[in-house]
Amino acid sequence: MSKTYLVTSALPYANGDIHLGHLVEHVQTDIFVRFQKLMGHQCYYMCADDAHGTAIMLSAEKEGVEPEEFIDRVKAQHIRDFERFNIEYDHYYSTHSDENRQLSEYVFGSAESDGGIIKKDIQQYFDEEKGLFLSDRYIKGICPKCGAEDQYGDACEKCYATYSATDLVSPVSVFSGKPPVLKDSTHYFFNLEKYRKDITDWLDQNPVSQSVKNKLTEWLDGELKPWDISRDAPYFGFKIPGTEDKYFYVWLDAPIGYIATTESWAQTKNESHEQYWKNEGVEIHHFIGKDIMYFHTLFWPAMLAVSGFQQPKKVHIHGFLTVNGEKMSKSRGTFILARDYADELDPDILRYYYAAKLSASMEDIDFSLEDFVHRINSDVLGKFINIASRIGAIVNKKLAGRLSIIDDEGAALLNNIMGHSDHIQSAYDALETNKCMRLIMECAEMANKYIDDKAPWAMVKEDEEAARIVCTVALNALRMLNIYLSPVCPNITQKLFDFLGVSGQSFGELSLNLENAKIQPYDHVLHRLKLEDVTSLITPNS
Ligand code: MSP
Ligand code: ZN
Repeated sequence: MSKTYLVTSALPYANGDIHLGHLVEHVQTDIFVRFQKLMGHQCYYMCADDAHGTAIMLSAEKEGVEPEEFIDRVKAQHIRDFERFNIEYDHYYSTHSDENRQLSEYVFGSAESDGGIIKKDIQQYFDEEKGLFLSDRYIKGICPKCGAEDQYGDACEKCYATYSATDLVSPVSVFSGKPPVLKDSTHYFFNLEKYRKDITDWLDQNPVSQSVKNKLTEWLDGELKPWDISRDAPYFGFKIPGTEDKYFYVWLDAPIGYIATTESWAQTKNESHEQYWKNEGVEIHHFIGKDIMYFHTLFWPAMLAVSGFQQPKKVHIHGFLTVNGEKMSKSRGTFILARDYADELDPDILRYYYAAKLSASMEDIDFSLEDFVHRINSDVLGKFINIASRIGAIVNKKLAGRLSIIDDEGAALLNNIMGHSDHIQSAYDALETNKCMRLIMECAEMANKYIDDKAPWAMVKEDEEAARIVCTVALNALRMLNIYLSPVCPNITQKLFDFLGVSGQSFGELSLNLENAKIQPYDHVLHRLKLEDVTSLITPNS
């Protein structure tokens, strides 16, 4: 039965470049989307830039441009970067849009009429030198939950707790380095506690993995604090209706950007977001990193419930990327930008490496340069592309590029490879791509063993027709591996499909054997990696 999915990656801030960390998420999402499409499902991939907030306002100010101009430029760069990694969105939009303004007002209005908004005078930190109410990112101090130092005013990077800046111990302003003063201001709060049941009912449907559920249960055991969803001017964002100088906090309108992006895309098909967000026939899947779990698993399902939208079927949460075992860092030069990588190396092999490391768990994954070189050379080149280069050379040079038929022994090998198909499919579906890559490489090893045993390069000197059969079998094995790998390495597999003279194939076409066909000349697809090729990616700042 064909299903319909609406899939999202978290919306990158329009305030910095895309780096290898972002790519973990977009590669994981893109593999999932490509796989579902290959299975014949409808799968739509929505993403956008997250364009609001003080940080973006200040960056634009620093450059002396309007925020609108700033975010447009960043968005164009983000799109270019993602394209180079073959991330195929159905729509890439921005949270700074009319659709998002309307939907944000709608969600806020729904909560307000439901009695879910509390208006309260609070005291907020203010930097007198800068003349600015300090948003959470501009205050640092000690986490009130776990005691970690140097944490921002909204959430702790050590224990993932979220809190108010006034809860921080020993706060200082990042602008002046001085303790900020408290100033009065009226704020709007979303009464999260009121929607506890909407959250727990949702959780009962298993939208998250067991370990995430455990973390949420911990949070739900305590009091769900009202969430401050307003910010004072000056702020770059949407003004709260009926106010003069209050804006929606960026995290209010950011996830609503998922719906607004859907709306902007749906309009091009004469549809509306309601066909996706108010339709139980559509499965919504979010892909996010563990740092933004609280927003997506507590606030978001509550906001959706109060405004009559359906909640996500799944929230997939991945861990963080480290480089050579450590947190990415600008000073160590391990903060690798997507475009710097793509200038040097093939994006498909990073996709492969991530796939080989990623699972459905929240564990961090490490981009270790040595391991990367080793893994790509031994798996992608040694076990996979190797089949094409070795057999391609024989068929083109000695056998006039022509294949013949598959004999019984060959059919047995291909059946074995086919026998892995169900496992591979369920591993893709469950985001266990590490397991998936292992299974695919097992198949590749079987094919290589067959080739080594038959030694067609020797056989061709004695018996061309026997060698032709061996090559036909080997290239059909390659064709099947190519289908298996196509969600992960779209570029490489496309080139190999071209070499085989077939248009891209789906899982349903695994058994469509290629016999008596003419293959194309084999063009080098990938060079062996040397450690020097990748170490140049790391350029420490002096
Ligand atoms: N704008 C918010 C998301 C709003 S979604 C409604 C945001 N942006 S972000 O640019 O900081 O991060 C975007 C995504 O990239 C997040 O899911 C985050 O977890 C992920 N990553 C950022 N750095 C990462 C690593 N080093 N490793 C893996 N993922 C990382 O948060
Ligand atoms: Zn903490």
